[in-house]
Amino acid sequence: MCGITGYVGPRPGVRTVIEMLRRLEYRGYDSAGVAVAAQGGGDMRIVKAAGKLAVLESQLQDHWETHGAAIAHTRWATHGGPTTPNAHPHFSQDGKIALIHNGIIENYQELRAELITEGFVFASETDTEVMVHLVDRAFQKRGSMEAAIREALTLVTGAYSIAVCSSHELETLYCAKTASPLILGLGEGENFLASDIPAVMRYTRSVIVLEDGDFAKITPAGVTLTDLTGGAIHREPFAVTWDEQTAEKGGFPHFMLKEIHEQPRALADTLRGRLTDSERVFIPELEGFTKEQLASFSHIHIVACGTAYHAGMVAKRFFENLLRRPVEVSVASEFRYSDPLVSQQTLCFIISQSGETADTLAALREAKRLGATIVSVVNVVGSSIARESHACVYTQAGPEICVASTKAYVTQLMVLYLIGLHLAAVEERITDETHQGFVRDLVALPDAVESVIGNALLVEDLAAKLADRSVFFYLGRGYDYAVALEAALKLKEISYLHAEAYAAGELKHGPLALIEPGVIVVCLATQPAVFDKMLSNIKEVAARGGTVVGVVYENEHRLDTTADHLLRIPAVRPELSPIVSIVPMQLLAYLVAQQRGCDIDMPRNLAKSVTVE
Ligand code: AGP
Repeated sequence: MCGITGYVGPRPGVRTVIEMLRRLEYRGYDSAGVAVAAQGGGDMRIVKAAGKLAVLESQLQDHWETHGAAIAHTRWATHGGPTTPNAHPHFSQDGKIALIHNGIIENYQELRAELITEGFVFASETDTEVMVHLVDRAFQKRGSMEAAIREALTLVTGAYSIAVCSSHELETLYCAKTASPLILGLGEGENFLASDIPAVMRYTRSVIVLEDGDFAKITPAGVTLTDLTGGAIHREPFAVTWDEQTAEKGGFPHFMLKEIHEQPRALADTLRGRLTDSERVFIPELEGFTKEQLASFSHIHIVACGTAYHAGMVAKRFFENLLRRPVEVSVASEFRYSDPLVSQQTLCFIISQSGETADTLAALREAKRLGATIVSVVNVVGSSIARESHACVYTQAGPEICVASTKAYVTQLMVLYLIGLHLAAVEERITDETHQGFVRDLVALPDAVESVIGNALLVEDLAAKLADRSVFFYLGRGYDYAVALEAALKLKEISYLHAEAYAAGELKHGPLALIEPGVIVVCLATQPAVFDKMLSNIKEVAARGGTVVGVVYENEHRLDTTADHLLRIPAVRPELSPIVSIVPMQLLAYLVAQQRGCDIDMPRNLAKSVTVE
């Protein structure tokens, strides 16, 4: 989503905010821009460009070393196409105020009409531009930037984080937020603002995470925090301890490959501190859930988007089998407008890597409003979803930078297995023996994943054979069906190939008509209980000339004569196979996309964190 950076201090403002933006490039964007209130006065200098940061930089040669308070922005189009006029910063008609924004101004059309009537001329199609004209109008009346920004904020509805710089007040930035993330970086004689921590890490480790409703005035000497009405507030800075390397590629050609390789460690980290010496699961964050309280929940609802939703589909099956209770799993964008059957008897799980996905956050708020108890599974510490849940169990994937989710998915699965076992143990639904057996099998998963990654060369060979094909199907039954959905999503989002996932038994109800020579059909067949059924489906595909790629346990040979290609994975307990079987699928998607020369880490039209509806 949009990236925001700002700087006041002795460094060249333009260069600093652009370098900060580079740290946020992974978030996905389609245009960029920068504004600086140059020391010595005069009008603001504003440069914008459609396309990647490099395009903007090529237009900045004369401004690169300009000193002064500066803001910069990478935009992911929502209102208006990805053009140069629509790029941020937007600026007042006299060119003295510049503003950048992440989020959506819901009432912008009424405000725009009102401003046009008053004679304001708009240079873009964006919702954001109304905000800068509102600030300008208020400044004409009040003569104070702070008062003008506050007044403008009272007029807009919607979700935003904004940053403003102006030649009316040199050496001063203002920012405010109601929804989208915003942080301050505190330096010595200089200060920073950004939409995410990696932007400031090379300059300072002292960071304040702003909360909804915060307003900040930032000068080289310090920051003043207030609420939107001007009441003083205090937010304690914290020290960022991450290694800068963890946010970089670490020698891999793409973040995606690096993140695939990080999965064994991420899985082990996610288990850490959640297993007892007696081989049982114990999740401290769920300590407050008693047997009686759990008994009061008549059903479970899981809500998420995209990959996190696919993790929820695995959890549905696992929870139902273990907890013997109906579990519904919903896509957040559907859930929030569906008048959902949620009440105080609902235990609601919200899954999100970023913790900021707008649809998922709205679904959480709706479920909470209806009385549900909310447990979230989140990767980003301190994110909105984490903060607004009754309990949050963090995945320990570390920063996931590639838009296509890999390590976040497997750690979500790990946390969900742990939660299922924890709750089943509290409710006394599993024997100690079963519980300990699961724990031993969970502990073995990082090694199983490592061994699949170690066989990546085999997948590379297959990817080279498949990269010129254009239609892919993914089939599976039970847990394998959930993995098929995730595998198809991985391929389509980074290789731009058409990929469909089906419950294998559904094939004969329609999609079988599409199977013909040249079509690739990836068949996940790791579930012993339905293996024979799966085999019949695979034979139906082979009989129609589809190219069969089988994904099977290493000791399974019943597909040897039917499949055109086989990817073997270590045999694990069938319920846990999604954590292992997805790995060759991630590698296949990555390697096919690489063969096709795609922009793997930042696929077209997509963003890492979808913070608008
Ligand atoms: C995954 O590869 C996707 N890029 C996407 O589906 C993602 O999982 C979805 O947008 C949800 O994001 P979240 O986990 O941050 O809420």
